[in-house]
Amino acid sequence: MDSEWLAKVFRLEKLIDSGHGQRREDQNLGLGHVYYGLVRAYRPEVIVVIGSWRGFVPIVMAKAQQDNVEGGRLIFIDPSMADDFWKDPKVVEHHFANFGLANIIEHHCMTTQEFVKTDAYKALDKIGMLFVDGMHTAEQAEFDHASFPQLEGPALFHDSCSTIMSRIYGKPYQHTVRKYIQKLQDNSDFDVLNVPLGMGVAVVTLRGT
Ligand SMILES: C[S@@+](CC[C@H](N)C(=O)[O-])C[C@H]1O[C@@H](n2cnc3c(N)ncnc32)[C@H](O)[C@@H]1O
Repeated sequence: MDSEWLAKVFRLEKLIDSGHGQRREDQNLGLGHVYYGLVRAYRPEVIVVIGSWRGFVPIVMAKAQQDNVEGGRLIFIDPSMADDFWKDPKVVEHHFANFGLANIIEHHCMTTQEFVKTDAYKALDKIGMLFVDGMHTAEQAEFDHASFPQLEGPALFHDSCSTIMSRIYGKPYQHTVRKYIQKLQDNSDFDVLNVPLGMGVAVVTLRGT
C-alpha cells in the first residue's frame, strides 16, 4: 500500500471510526493490517464481506486482492440499516472508485437472509474468505457463517471480544458474537485465533485446512 492510497483512507473520518483499532497519526490500519496480510497470504479470488459502516474492511481486502497477481472479486452484502449510505448505487460506485476498487467490489444492498435467495448467490462457486460484521449477535454470526458452505478459506468475525450495548439500529442491544466464537472454540472441527485488539477479530479455519 503506498502512502498516497493510505492518505485517502485516513482522510475519511467515518472510514476509520469503525472498531478496528486504526490510528491516524502514523497511518496505522490496526486490524486492517491483519485483513490485508491474510488476503495477501491466502490469495482468495472471491471474498464475501457482510456489513460495514463505510467500507473499511471491503476496501482494505479488495486492495489486497488488487495487489495479488490473481486479482479477484469481493461481494459486499449490506442492506444499509445503520443509515442511508449504501442505498444509492451511484454513490456506492463513486465511493469505491475513489480507492480504485470499483471493478473489484460488488455491492448487494440487502441482508444475508435476502442474498442467499438471489441468483448471484446460486452462481457462487468457491469462496476463499468470509468476513462477518453485520448484526453482531451470536445468532446472526452463525447464520452468516452457515450461509456460505462454499467457503474454502478462513472466516473472520469482527467484534469477537465486544460486550458493548449498541445503538446503531435504534433500540439498544448487546454484542454477543463472542458467544458464537466460544461455540467454535469448543468444536474440534475448527481452529480459532482470537485477536483481542479494537473490538476484536476471530480468524476461524476448518481444522486441517
Ligand atoms: C455499521 S456496521 C458495523 C461497523 C463495522 N465494525 C465497520 O467496520 O464498519 C454493520 C453493518 O451491518 C449491516 N447489517 C446488519 N444486519 C445485516 C444482515 N442481516 N445482513 C447483512 N448486513 C447486515 C448494517 O446495514 C450495517 O451497515
